[in-house]
Amino acid sequence: MAKKPWAGRFTEATSKGVEKFTESISFDKRLWKYDIEGSVAHARMLARQGIISKKECDRIVSGLKEIHREIEQGLFVFREELEDIHMNIESALIGKIGDAGGKLHTARSRNDQVALDIRLYLRDRTREISGLLLGLEKELADMAEKNLGVMMPGYTHTQRAQPVLLSHHMMAYAQMFDRDRQRFSDALKRINILPLGACALAGTSLPIDRAFVAELLKFDGVSENSIDSVSDRDGVIEFLACSAIFMSHISRLAEELVLWSSEEFFFVSMSDAHTTGSSIMPQKKNPDVAELMRGKTGRVYGSLVSLLTMMKGLPLSYNRDMQEDKEPIFDAAETVTAVLTNAAELLTRVTFNSERMAKVAGDGYSTATDIAEYLVRKGLPVRQAHEITGRIVRYAIESGKGLTDLTPQEYKAYSSLIGSDIYDFIDVRASINSKTSFGGTSPARVKEQIKRFRKRLR
Ligand code: ARG
Repeated sequence: MAKKPWAGRFTEATSKGVEKFTESISFDKRLWKYDIEGSVAHARMLARQGIISKKECDRIVSGLKEIHREIEQGLFVFREELEDIHMNIESALIGKIGDAGGKLHTARSRNDQVALDIRLYLRDRTREISGLLLGLEKELADMAEKNLGVMMPGYTHTQRAQPVLLSHHMMAYAQMFDRDRQRFSDALKRINILPLGACALAGTSLPIDRAFVAELLKFDGVSENSIDSVSDRDGVIEFLACSAIFMSHISRLAEELVLWSSEEFFFVSMSDAHTTGSSIMPQKKNPDVAELMRGKTGRVYGSLVSLLTMMKGLPLSYNRDMQEDKEPIFDAAETVTAVLTNAAELLTRVTFNSERMAKVAGDGYSTATDIAEYLVRKGLPVRQAHEITGRIVRYAIESGKGLTDLTPQEYKAYSSLIGSDIYDFIDVRASINSKTSFGGTSPARVKEQIKRFRKRLR
C-alpha cells in the first residue's frame, strides 16, 4: 500500500470507497507526458535558482526520464490509492531516487501543477485540431475547384430557392471551418500562458523564476495573479466552446450528406469504404459515418455545458470540483479529432451526381427572382416587380408549365416591360452567371473566392 504524500496530519487510512470516489488517475493518466515535461522544467528552474542543487536536479531529471520510458512501454503501474497522475509520478520518483525526489514539489502545489498540465494538453490538442481543420479546408477548396461548373438548387427552408454553384455551397463550409480554425488559434493565445508558480494559491516565499519556466516550456507569457491561476478553467471552456461551434458546423455538412445520399435527393454517393450495410435489408447502403459525425455533436455540446455548470458559482480559488473538467475535455478533444479525420477521408471519396443536381436546379420556378430583378432593372419598384412575378408563377403553376415554357405573349400579359430577351435571364446557367455581386454565386466570383481563400490558408 503506497503512502500518500499528504499523510502527515492523518491518523486513519482513507476508506476504500473514498479512494474510488476521489481518484482521477483512471482518466488523468492521459496527462503523464505533460506532467513530466512540467516537472523537468520546474526542477531545472529550482536548480538554477539555487533552491535545489545541480546534482539533485540531475537525479530528478533522469528519474523522470526513466518514468517516461516505463509509461511509454506500458511498464508503469498506476495506483488508485495515489489519486492522480501528479502523485503517481512523484511517488514513483521518490521510490527511485529517494530524498532528491522529495524536493521536486518545492514551491509547487498540485493546484498549479494540474492547471499547467491542462494547458500543455490543450495547447497540443488545439494545434492538432487546427492542422486537421486546415486539411479539411484545403480539401473543400480542391473540391470546389474541381466541380466549378456543377449547378445545384440552393435552399432556404429546405425549399428550392435559387440555383447556385455546388462549389459555392462547398465553399460556404470552407468559410465556416476557417473561422473555426481562427477561433481555436485565438483561444490558444489565452491558453498558452504559464500558471505554474502560483503554488497552492498565494505564490511562494521561495525565490522562483516563473519567466524561466515559461521560456523552457515555450509559453507566451506568465499568469499575473496566483489566485486566478489556480481558480480558473476558462481556457478549457473556451476550447470546448470552439469545439461545440465546430461540431455545429460539421453536423450540418453531415446532415446534408445524409440527405443528399437518399434516393429522394440522389445528389451524392459515398464510397463503399465509407458506408455500411444493414443486417436485415440487403439492398441498403447506409451513410453511418456522416450520421455519426452529426450524432457526436451532442456529446461535445454536453461537455461544454457540463464544464460551464461545474464552474458556476465556485468560490475562489481551487476546489476539488474542478477535477471534473478532465473527462469532458478528453472526450471532446478525441471526438473532434476523430470527426475531422473521418470527414476529410469521407469527402475525398464522395461523388456528385451533377446531372441530377443540374436538372433539379432548374425545377420549381427557381429563377423567378431573376424575372423580378429583370423588371427592377427596367425601372419597376422591387415590390411591384415581386408582385407581378408572383402572378406569373401562379399562372405558370395553374397552366402546368415551367417559366421557360411561357410564350413572350404570356409574359407580356403581365408586364409590357418584359421583352423576348427574358429567356436569357431565366435559364439556370444564366441565372447563376448573373450573380456577380461580391460574394455571389457566379463562376467568376466563386473562382475569386477560392483564390482569396487559398491565399489565406498559406
Ligand atoms: N486531481 C486533482 C485535479 O484534477 C489535482 C489537484 C488536486 N489538488 C488538491 N488540492 N487536492 O484537480
